[in-house]
Amino acid sequence: MNFMNNTNPIGIFDSGVGGLTVVKKITTLLPNENIVYFGDTARVPYGTKSNETVIEYAIQDAKFLQTKNVKIIIVACNTVSSIALDVLREKFDIPVIGMIEPGSKLALKKTKNNRIGIIGTNATVNNKAYSSFLLKENKNIEVFEKACPLFVPLAEEGLINHPATKLIAEEYLSDLKELNIDTLILGCTHYPILASTIQEVMGNNVELIDSGTAAGIIVKNYLEGRGLLNNSNNLGTSEFFVSDLPKRFKEIAERFLGRSLKHVHKIDLETIHNLL
Ligand code: DGL
Repeated sequence: MNFMNNTNPIGIFDSGVGGLTVVKKITTLLPNENIVYFGDTARVPYGTKSNETVIEYAIQDAKFLQTKNVKIIIVACNTVSSIALDVLREKFDIPVIGMIEPGSKLALKKTKNNRIGIIGTNATVNNKAYSSFLLKENKNIEVFEKACPLFVPLAEEGLINHPATKLIAEEYLSDLKELNIDTLILGCTHYPILASTIQEVMGNNVELIDSGTAAGIIVKNYLEGRGLLNNSNNLGTSEFFVSDLPKRFKEIAERFLGRSLKHVHKIDLETIHNLL
C-alpha cells in the first residue's frame, strides 16, 4: 500500500484530449489540488476497440499514473469506465473513480418522467454500463441509448457551434427526440464540448448531464471524507503527459482550458508497455 499524503496529485487519464473536460471541472472545484494527466493520444480512439484491448490499455494508463504517486485515479474516459473499472479497482490499491456511477446518479436525481437518454461511443453503448447501472438503481426507469461516434472527431477539430456538427447532431439525435426523454447523459468525455449544439437540437426541455461534473463532486467528497484534500493555499500545479503528438495536445488543451501550459511531456509507448 502506498503511503498517501494529501499533497499527492490527483491522477486523471483518458484515451486522448477528451479528459480535459474533467480536468477543467476538477481545477474549478479543487483549485489547490495538483493534477497529473495522461492522454493516450497514440492509441485514441478507445471507443472503437475490443474490450480486451481497452482493459489492457487502461491497466497501462493507470500504472503510469501510479508511478506519479497519485492519491486517486479518475478514469475520465467513459469507454474505459464502462469496460474496465472493476478490473482497475481489483488491480490497484489506489481509489479509482469512473464516470458511469456519478453521471447516472445525477441523471436519476434530475429526471421527472423517468425517461433517460444516453449518448456515447460504440463501446460504451454496446457495453450498456450506463443502462445497467440506472436500472439497478431504479427499475422504473426507461433508458434509451445511442452511439454518436462522429462527435469525437468533431470536438477534436474544434467544430463547436458549426453547421456540420448541427447536421450530424440532428441525424444522431432525431430518434431520441421522439422518445420524450427529459434527461440526456453525455456519456463521452468529448460531448460536453459540443453541449450547446446538442442542447439546441434536443430542445430546452431536456436536461444534459455532464458525467465529468458529477464525478468532480464525488472526488471532492471522497478526498474530504478521508482527510486527503490538499489544504495548501497555493494554486495546484498540472502536469500533462501524452503518448504522441504533444504539440497538438498542447494547442488543443490551451484552447480548451483557456490558459497556457508550460510543457506537455511525451511518454514512449514502450515505457508504458514495460510497466506491465
Ligand atoms: N474518451 C472516450 C470516451 O469518453 C472518447 C474517445 C475515444 O473513443 O477514445 O468514451
